[in-house]
Amino acid sequence: MSDDGPARLPRTGMPADELLEQIDTARAGDLDWKGGRAFSLVYNSGDEAHEAVLHAVADRYLHENALNPFRYPSLLQMELDLVAMGADLFGGVADAGAVTAGGSMSIFCAVQVARGHARAEMGIPEPQVLAPETAHPAFAKACDLLDIELVTVPVEADGRIDPERLGAAITDRTALLVASAACYPFGVIDPVAAVAALADERGLLCHVDACLGGFLLPFWEELGQPVPPWDLSVPGVTSLSADVHKYGYAFKGASLVLYRDRDLLKHQHFWYSDWPGGLYASSTPAGTRPAPPIAGAWAALMHLGREGFLRLTSQVLDAHTRFLDGIAAIDGAVVDPAPDISVFQVTTPGRSHDAVGDQMDARGWNLDRQQGGLHVMLSPYHAQVADQFVADLGAALADVPLTEDAPTSSTVSTYGGIAEA
Ligand SMILES: Cc1ncc(COP(=O)(O)O)c(C=O)c1O
Repeated sequence: MSDDGPARLPRTGMPADELLEQIDTARAGDLDWKGGRAFSLVYNSGDEAHEAVLHAVADRYLHENALNPFRYPSLLQMELDLVAMGADLFGGVADAGAVTAGGSMSIFCAVQVARGHARAEMGIPEPQVLAPETAHPAFAKACDLLDIELVTVPVEADGRIDPERLGAAITDRTALLVASAACYPFGVIDPVAAVAALADERGLLCHVDACLGGFLLPFWEELGQPVPPWDLSVPGVTSLSADVHKYGYAFKGASLVLYRDRDLLKHQHFWYSDWPGGLYASSTPAGTRPAPPIAGAWAALMHLGREGFLRLTSQVLDAHTRFLDGIAAIDGAVVDPAPDISVFQVTTPGRSHDAVGDQMDARGWNLDRQQGGLHVMLSPYHAQVADQFVADLGAALADVPLTEDAPTSSTVSTYGGIAEA
């Protein structure tokens, strides 16, 4: 953390107070997620008692390693519990899943399983994955790493995949169909039942990416919001990913990947017996697995319980209503397409959304730029800043001139790096 060239291991250790002071100074330049001005990178429950529990649990498991679960029966039990709780919430079976380090890793596992299944059970040596263009880039990454072809299909104006269009793209190499619940760019849920029925008819696997919506949708529906069928209880859905470190309100590093049955899960396991070090086995691509995220995810679900999730989800819903109503009342900003959950895109017809985003940055907001608009992802805490956001958006729009040739796509940095229009 110095500008004097590449860092070197210091000869003598830095005293703790000096070190912590240096960290605190350096952190002053980091995103401040606690004030409700950040979106998508952190899911801020705004619940201090919950935060305190997560800190205490992480502290207890700081050095533990879940690589060998038999050495840590408490961690093994937590992982089993997490899979069982996820299966209970998402219509799966209690013993067919795993805890991974995040959504991308869960998706990697599901694609790896689809590849193994395609080769072993379908006689397809070089399988294809078929996904809506809105599917998270984790599918593209997994396919790239696993040397599988990804075929993407454009979505309709409402942001959803048309199952007929998807069906028309199926080939004799297709192994896996993907649907999102909901997709990151627009917060809309693909027609999971129709996509899964298609997969079922054609003998294919179907993965539902509920990394974002998984721990929100059951409670969103209980609060009276319309939610189409989306989980493992839908006939034809064979795997599902749901992140505990998003709307599950755990700290980072925890996601669930769940399968229809253990026969699918077995394609995820790795065994190696030709090593002088002995038999090596792992249940996910990771070797060493940090214990805090597993224990933190378990603690988050147990501490909140259904009542806690309903309470936090109703705060998200409150934020959602206030943001949407406020934006609808502003001339020049449109939430488009209409979202199913508390994640959406704000477009600024006739104005560059990059320029509006810059004006919002100047007012202390941190909105990611998408190809077609600004991205908003709401946490419980955002209910407290909704009015300020709407007022600032109105002022930001007033500061950006209307132009006939306002760019409709963007190449600036997004939540995950650099977006190419
Ligand atoms: C729908 C969806 N899938 C997958 C992911 C990837 O999750 P992670 O960033 O935890 O790897 C995200 C992240 O935002 C997401 O929104």
